[in-house]
Amino acid sequence: MKVALGNDHAGYLLKESIIGHLNTTRRSCKDFGVLSEESVDYPDIVALVVKAVLSGEYDCGILICGTGIGMSIAANKYKGIRAALCGEAYSARCAREHNNANVLTMGSRVTGQGLAVDIAETFLTASFEGGRHNRRLEKIIAIENK
Ligand code: RB5
Repeated sequence: MKVALGNDHAGYLLKESIIGHLNTTRRSCKDFGVLSEESVDYPDIVALVVKAVLSGEYDCGILICGTGIGMSIAANKYKGIRAALCGEAYSARCAREHNNANVLTMGSRVTGQGLAVDIAETFLTASFEGGRHNRRLEKIIAIENK
């Protein structure tokens, strides 16, 4: 599984922790920045990560800002992106199993490092269950295509 990561200034340190975990667990990942706590606009980072996922080069994305909300709102503007803002592991698991989410967003000012790593690990190991959930995703795709 190849993971594309991105963050704004608020999410920088938490993103570093997540990358540390991905390296320890030998996951392939690319850091799309930013690489400091200097102020940036989160939609610019979303564009990079989301395009990498939509291109098929990366299986999923992880986006981190202060609350995870801005990243989530911006990512979900892109057709084909299903971004889930998660603050605990149960939602992260369901985001994959039920919603086939392809982007996880988290808030560094909301979620501590240990929990965030747990959420990311859960998101990366869970997989889409299909079945009845396919029908629901097809209805979302129909909305996108209106
Ligand atoms: C930056 O201060 C903050 O607004 C941003 O990281 C994020 O929380 C937006 O949703």
